[in-house]
Amino acid sequence: MTDFPASRTVILTGAASPRGIGRASAHYLAERGWNIGIIDVEAEAAKRVAEEIALEHGVQAAGAGADVSVEAQVRAAFDELEGQLPQIVALVNLAGVSSPVPYLEVTADEWNRVMGINMNGVHYATRRAVESMVKHGVGRVVSLSSVSAQRGGGTYSKTVYSAAKAGVIGFTRSIARELGQQGITANAISPGPIDTDIMGGTLTDERKEKMAADGVLPRIGTPRDIAAAIAYLISEDAGFVTGQTLNVDGGLYMH
Ligand SMILES: NC(=O)c1ccc[n+]([C@@H]2O[C@H](COP(=O)([O-])OP(=O)(O)OC[C@H]3O[C@@H](n4cnc5c(N)ncnc54)[C@H](O)[C@@H]3O)[C@@H](O)[C@H]2O)c1
Repeated sequence: MTDFPASRTVILTGAASPRGIGRASAHYLAERGWNIGIIDVEAEAAKRVAEEIALEHGVQAAGAGADVSVEAQVRAAFDELEGQLPQIVALVNLAGVSSPVPYLEVTADEWNRVMGINMNGVHYATRRAVESMVKHGVGRVVSLSSVSAQRGGGTYSKTVYSAAKAGVIGFTRSIARELGQQGITANAISPGPIDTDIMGGTLTDERKEKMAADGVLPRIGTPRDIAAAIAYLISEDAGFVTGQTLNVDGGLYMH
């Protein structure tokens, strides 16, 4: 077992949107001593969130723009962040888009857009991050799947999204197996509906109530619910947990 270095960085993709899981998680992790790197297609917002985090929590933070579906952009963003921040110990893949398109209406472009961001993007960021992690013999990778991968949709997004998010689970298990000997763990988080703007805009109380009715708890989730799960899975103490999918979904899917 390799110990964490005293000063360590977590890179989060998709952490720029104001009400998103990524931004809330970046704050949550900075509060717990992590230095923060943010990669988002919204380059200016990524930099702004990083500045706000550095000011508020007194850690090092930097943001870089990249479309995660374009490998060269992802690699350039990592190079930029790695030059400014302490050792990259963790990666959290949050960048994602929804897709409420019924299966019979899915065009090739829609299929490729959603797969490109939600699946290929996870691969590109992970591949680049673990290249750095193996040099130090320690690393944590957490990727956001979705309960819709396990239940066959049923939330807001439909088949392309479910397929990409199911791919994230298979990908996670396989890299967990391949990279375990090199000190790297890989896990997925499978959220139920979380109160962000990804499902076609800010949720009304009525929509929230309907979504909560499917689960066993009387509410939908908050970004903080997911942030806390991320914090655990990337922690030093979670070093014996790998290849898992942690459902944070109010009991929507029990397995
Ligand atoms: N909110 C939910 O109910 C829910 C449920 C299950 C899974 N998830 C997953 O959690 C993750 C975060 O979602 P959220 O709810 O915070 O949504 P969000 O829309 O607030 O955040 C998504 C982030 O990804 C960024 N992004 C989008 N396309 C990108 C690209 N091509 N390259 C780089 N960045 C890009 C956006 O700018 C944004 O900052 C997503 O992967 C989503 O699929 C969310």
